[in-house]
Amino acid sequence: MEEIDQEKLPRHIAIIMDGNGRWAKKKKLNRIRGHIKGVDAVREVVTACRELGIKVLTLYAFSIENWQRPQEEVSALMGLLKEYLVKEGEEMVKNNIRLSAIGRLEDLPQDVLTTLRETMEKTENCDGMILNLALSYGGRSEILHAVRGIISDLKEGKLREEEIDLSSFQKYLWTGNLPDPDLLIRTSGESRISNFLLYQIAYTELYLTQTLWPDFNRKELLKAIADYQLRERRFGRTSEQINGIGT
Ligand code: IPE
Ligand code: IPE
Ligand code: MG
Repeated sequence: MEEIDQEKLPRHIAIIMDGNGRWAKKKKLNRIRGHIKGVDAVREVVTACRELGIKVLTLYAFSIENWQRPQEEVSALMGLLKEYLVKEGEEMVKNNIRLSAIGRLEDLPQDVLTTLRETMEKTENCDGMILNLALSYGGRSEILHAVRGIISDLKEGKLREEEIDLSSFQKYLWTGNLPDPDLLIRTSGESRISNFLLYQIAYTELYLTQTLWPDFNRKELLKAIADYQLRERRFGRTSEQINGIGT
């Protein structure tokens, strides 16, 4: 097993769960079977993160652009989401996991939105880990939403122009008070961001793996964290400064 340093755990892990379709295709199955298998991977990774003591886990489950997929696939994904929320609600409470969500949630079908809200309410007092689902999410839309929020608060006198700085701006994003991700994982071999957390990942460590999402598991997660722990996060400084050597 990978050696994990408990002192250097990423506080916030974000994952672009990609490759369900290709997983299914390889097995000559319908794409939807890939999504079904993908939900099992979600369960395993959520449990593993909770056990490890990760504080925030953000999962990119559905992008704004994903609405353009065939109607049948979109419906299947919405159905799987609802089923997941219904089935896992109790488990989240039991494991002290608080559910949250970011994205244009108002785009979700009414029944899915209702179930999402119910599960968020059910888990609102849990404080072991935040499971944050990105649903109908797009980073550009999030930034636009923040700008609109700022303009509206300026007009209403809730915010003064001179108060707009990086820390107040951040509060207008859907991620609000969440810390920026320390580690971003993307599965399936793609090397792109696909409109995920554009603002928040300025200094996030990236981990790209060929593994398709349905095959991603606890072991793969530990591998990603172990790799992350080897990185030197310099935030623009020099290595010497980070290690307290010299001046
Ligand atoms: C990720 O798998 C799941 C979603 C985007 C909802 P894909 O469905 O994108 O799988 P590939 O990329 O086609 O293999
Ligand atoms: C990103 O995957 C979105 C999610 C994982 C939900 P996509 O499969 O939609 O990304 P592209 O289209 O390959 O960039
Ligand atoms: Mg994909």
